[in-house]
Amino acid sequence: MCPVVELHEVQKTYRLGKAEVPALRGISLAIVPGEFVAIAGPSGSGKTSALNLIGCIDKPTAGRIIFEEEDITEISLPALAATRREKLGFIFQTFNLIPVLNAYENVEYPLLLQHFSTLERKQRVMRALEQVGIADRAKHKPNELSGGQRQRVAIARALVGDPRVVLADEPTANLDSVTAGEIIALMRRLNQEQGVTFIFSTHDPRIMQAAARLVHLRDGRIDNQNGKSFQEAAHA
Ligand SMILES: Nc1ncnc2c1ncn2[C@@H]1O[C@H](COP(=O)(O)OP(=O)(O)OP(=O)(O)O)[C@@H](O)[C@H]1O
Ligand SMILES: [Mg+2]
Repeated sequence: MCPVVELHEVQKTYRLGKAEVPALRGISLAIVPGEFVAIAGPSGSGKTSALNLIGCIDKPTAGRIIFEEEDITEISLPALAATRREKLGFIFQTFNLIPVLNAYENVEYPLLLQHFSTLERKQRVMRALEQVGIADRAKHKPNELSGGQRQRVAIARALVGDPRVVLADEPTANLDSVTAGEIIALMRRLNQEQGVTFIFSTHDPRIMQAAARLVHLRDGRIDNQNGKSFQEAAHA
């Protein structure tokens, strides 16, 4: 199967004044549609940097990134933003819901930037809320929801535009362990039943166990990928 996203010898170096901070030192990775991949590694190992590059939030310093067979390394910032909007969904550690909007409106929000009819928008939002088991809280604002419920709303918002890939940076870090387990189980169910591709980062060994594939980062490099080489991973 063709990879949905490929990283080829990707490097990211941040500039802080005159200092250079190497965050990624050449990582190569291919992820095929339908995968459920955890990016693990200690603090500072480059997990967020890698997700930001895959998520078209940032550009690499060197190397190439291919998204659905298109090289997005050199594309313009507006084109990168369009890829982000149309092909990716995001889930954040701190949920990032808009406090004045209720659950329904938060999930609807990304669709307002796209061309959907009012009816289609409504159908999509309700379907997404149902998929994450939170339709009965549609009118609740974020501060009227538990942490786990907020993250469910955020997952619905990530899914509502039918993205090719959902990216989640430490999606369970702000949840207690039982709720964290439930959220990962929900993501895994969406992955297995609907084929949604998930790439998420975590520190938590119990969350790593739920991953179908584990990519270990250490000091900006890949330590191992369940023992698979890049070529094997690309053709798995
Ligand atoms: N905007 C930035 N400017 C300068 N250096 C940065 C920036 N963002 C990250 N870094 C540095 O890059 C390295 C990798 O950071 P990154 O945030 O990718 O790590 P991480 O694995 O996500 O860590 P954590 O588990 O703590 O979230 C770190 O050394 C960090 O200090
Ligand atoms: Mg991080």
